[in-house]
Amino acid sequence: MPNSVNITIAEQKGLPIRFKDLSLTMRKEDLDQFRSIVEELLEKEVKEPVVNPIPPEKLFEVLDLRLEEEGIDDDRFYHSLKELVFNTPRTSSKLFFNQLFAGRKSKAILGDLLSIMLNNSMYTYKVAGPMVGVEKEIVRKTAQLIGYDQKADGTIVTGGSLANFMAMVMGRDAYNEKIRFDGVQSKMIVYTSENCHYSIGKNASLMGIGRSQVRNVKVDEKGRMIATDLEAKVEQDLKDGCHPFFVNATAGTTVMGSFDPIDEISKVCKKHNLWLHIDGAYCGAVIYSEKYKSLVRGVEKADSFNVNAHKMLGTPLTCSVFIAKDKRYLKQSLSNDASYLYQTDNDDFNLGKTSLQCGRKNDALKLWTLWKSIGTKGLGQMVDHQFYLADVAREYLSSHKDYKLYSYEDSVSVCFNYKNIDPKRICTLLYQKSKILVGFGTFKDETFIRFVTVNADNSKEDILNFFKELESFVEENIDDLLVNENASTA
Ligand SMILES: Cc1ncc(COP(=O)(O)O)c(C=O)c1O
Repeated sequence: MPNSVNITIAEQKGLPIRFKDLSLTMRKEDLDQFRSIVEELLEKEVKEPVVNPIPPEKLFEVLDLRLEEEGIDDDRFYHSLKELVFNTPRTSSKLFFNQLFAGRKSKAILGDLLSIMLNNSMYTYKVAGPMVGVEKEIVRKTAQLIGYDQKADGTIVTGGSLANFMAMVMGRDAYNEKIRFDGVQSKMIVYTSENCHYSIGKNASLMGIGRSQVRNVKVDEKGRMIATDLEAKVEQDLKDGCHPFFVNATAGTTVMGSFDPIDEISKVCKKHNLWLHIDGAYCGAVIYSEKYKSLVRGVEKADSFNVNAHKMLGTPLTCSVFIAKDKRYLKQSLSNDASYLYQTDNDDFNLGKTSLQCGRKNDALKLWTLWKSIGTKGLGQMVDHQFYLADVAREYLSSHKDYKLYSYEDSVSVCFNYKNIDPKRICTLLYQKSKILVGFGTFKDETFIRFVTVNADNSKEDILNFFKELESFVEENIDDLLVNENASTA
């Protein structure tokens, strides 16, 4: 009779219920379906690189998205799932140039899929085990390539926005460690170029620094921060009784792909004791390339650095490497005691002590599997290839008189206009007619198509094919493009 009371209580609560899908093992049917969906998707990506977009107002009519009270049978489930997957934009196809990520790296996918199966959280060694070593090795090797010494440390973050946030927090605490306790009580000033990523202003707002305390430093004709303007702005703020503390320099600006001159900027930072962060979310991966690492000359002088592996290195979203030159600051700003969490092992292996997150997916494994399989040289070759593809595109544009080029050499953003047609019209119609996914950008009052060559799986032919597709599309749709243009200016 020992368990009879417990069983009765459990039965009164309606237990045990049999959940048909909640088994500890992965169901064979689901694995088979996964494989079959992926195989079909890979074929479709070749035959139909751009999906027909479903108008958002029709979305819930066209797809079986509604969640219901009762579960559904496997046939309907798989059918609904396939419809959903096959109607989703194809970011790994040969005609996706819309964002700063594209393509698919098989070894990185393998790592990511395994990290999902293992489902560790990276906060403690007890729970993540050797995966901690995977992350530490990526951080160690990246810090070494930057030119940092043993004092450096870092973490894998979800992306550039979060990395930029962490850097700003560390810069704030390095300026005055009491702010962690007392809050921001003076006008603390952030400097960044007028072409920086929007996360800088947003982060200043989230941190209580305030967007009005962000100074937009002028850029030259190629989109690079002008260090003399930075210095002038810092000096003016000091005269006004403000507290400059943080400079963000960008390695690959979001639209033009420009590289701020780190060496020159670092001199201003040193003189005024400002934290220098390098936002390399887009193109910081040049550190892996012998040929292009000179674009971030002086990076070793910065206090922190980040690179998104999910951009130029082609890992699945999300994977970003954040490195601090001195791990003291990483710990000072981010570590927190929690007796319910940190119960074993040395804190150097309990990565939650240097992370903004608590529970954290293992985003390191996908970069490690890629890096391990192709080596640092392979990563560098991927980067070199993207610059080569951009050269191919620029060469094509320069030798065809209907194009006007706006961007410069040493950038994987190739910005241009075609036949003087409104770039917003072209990009939108290309999307609506499911031809090509590409976006537009603006620099110094000029708007243009921003063609991004970050898909290292592409070849010269794929780049030339993009222009061929674009030209025939414009020819076939010229009336629509011009009619719409006239309508928009009317
Ligand atoms: C220069 C730069 N910094 C930061 C970011 C933000 O990165 P994430 O999208 O990973 O947050 C981007 C994104 O495009 C970027 O171009």
